[in-house]
Amino acid sequence: MDNIVVLDFGSQYSNLICRRIRDINVYCELLPFNTSIKELQQIRPNGIIFSGGPASVYFNDSPKPDKEIFELGIPILGICYGHQLIIDHFGGKVKKTSTREYGRADLIIDNKGDLFSTIDSKIKCWMSHGDAAENLPEGFEILGHTENSFSAAIANQEKRLYGIQFHPEVVHTENGSEILKNFSQKICRAKPSWNMESFIESTIEAIQQRVGNEKVLCAVSGGIDSTTVAALFDKAIGKNLKCVFVNHGLLREDEEVLVTGLFKDYLQSEVIYVNAEKQFLQKLKGVCNPEIKRSVIGEEFAKVFMDVVKKNGHFQWLAQGTLYPDVIESGVSKGPASAIKTHHNVGGMPKWLNLKTIEPLRTLYKDEVKRVAKLLGVPNEFLQRHPFPGPGLAVRIIGEVTPEKIRIARHASKIVEDELNAAGLYHKVWQAYALVGDDRAVGVLGDQRIYGHIATIKIVESIDAMTADWTRLPYEIIGKMSDRITNEVEDVSWVTYAVSSKPPATIEPQ
Ligand code: XMP
Repeated sequence: MDNIVVLDFGSQYSNLICRRIRDINVYCELLPFNTSIKELQQIRPNGIIFSGGPASVYFNDSPKPDKEIFELGIPILGICYGHQLIIDHFGGKVKKTSTREYGRADLIIDNKGDLFSTIDSKIKCWMSHGDAAENLPEGFEILGHTENSFSAAIANQEKRLYGIQFHPEVVHTENGSEILKNFSQKICRAKPSWNMESFIESTIEAIQQRVGNEKVLCAVSGGIDSTTVAALFDKAIGKNLKCVFVNHGLLREDEEVLVTGLFKDYLQSEVIYVNAEKQFLQKLKGVCNPEIKRSVIGEEFAKVFMDVVKKNGHFQWLAQGTLYPDVIESGVSKGPASAIKTHHNVGGMPKWLNLKTIEPLRTLYKDEVKRVAKLLGVPNEFLQRHPFPGPGLAVRIIGEVTPEKIRIARHASKIVEDELNAAGLYHKVWQAYALVGDDRAVGVLGDQRIYGHIATIKIVESIDAMTADWTRLPYEIIGKMSDRITNEVEDVSWVTYAVSSKPPATIEPQ
């Protein structure tokens, strides 16, 4: 399939470049800056984009691609640091500027070429750099300038090498997507063949080829990712798929009934229900550290799967719903993005499970998964539920996980969801729940003094969970939630509202 490769030099926007290219229906992958020439030759990209990055090209230890990349005859677009890399490689000079250019600037286009052929002669662009070209290498011409950058856009059109000092991937650059489209489709001639219909078709075919007649076990949680994986395998291999839904005792209220019921109606494959509440809660006794909680839960999941494998015949494969941002955020992509939290579905299951892992969504972003799910006819109840972490309420309980704290987090969260639904706001927010820890505060209930728990309501808005803003919920709704929680949830005396965004906070407290 036609595709573009983005080489990641450490910019916070690298992922975004990839997103933008996919939005114009060209398949795009983000790879580490030092990806070997051999690997690139295997991928055969129609074009390569060098991302921006925080380094300066004139230092010896700054990240550089293999020099041979310039000899491959593949069009290259360098963005910001990538632009400076091209100038430096071909013998131009890059140096620190006296005035750092940051924010919006007017880009005057002097020569439209193919890159700007569909763009106005003057656009707003987004700059963020402290280095700039002092002089250009031979063979390069100026395509555009700003007040502070005489060479904000350059090209050697014959060799199809382009460099832009600004960031076309951020929304502040006018026609940014159009510039990326011109590069991918006009200059690189990549056909816009990436769409979710073709993804489904090719993935089903790939699953059938890879799995053959072997049996696949798929753990489903009712979340959109694992449901989509199950739906793909259901279509691809039918009866050779078995799903397993594990109740670890850390689910939302009535979740097990809802999810197993929905699956029964939707899938032709069997869904095995395992109630492992006691086993999980026993293992979590005395565990307070969030990362240890995650690893205990991950390990118990694996043990449950092992049991299912033993009781239900021979499985060779375990299907998982790992997504592209999970791969990048966990640092598995080898790129500069580093691990933040261990999301237990990345990195595979323990070897002793003896199952081969298959992850058909590994290349997709969340909104692409949602589109796939819709096309596969996944019921709306699955599509519209808020995301819920694999370790469940355990990461919404600060300190030790106890039956009392589970009861409080579960019941109070149900009230938060109910009130949001009643106000017609459930679908407008990304996640909403109540968390609980060990802090207590005095209250008076009837004539009795109680020293109850403090429940904290957390509601956030987000597009992709990478960043999130706390929701400015009307006071009356917060008040109603608070009244109901203190009245209806036994042993809660106070309710607070979390007003921390991500960053610096994360969405889950643990
Ligand atoms: P954070 O807390 O990192 O969460 O801001 C980002 C998104 O990921 C979900 N999350 C998890 N999902 N296993 C999961 O499957 C986990 O351990 C986990 N931790 C957080 C969280 O609910 C949010 O949507």
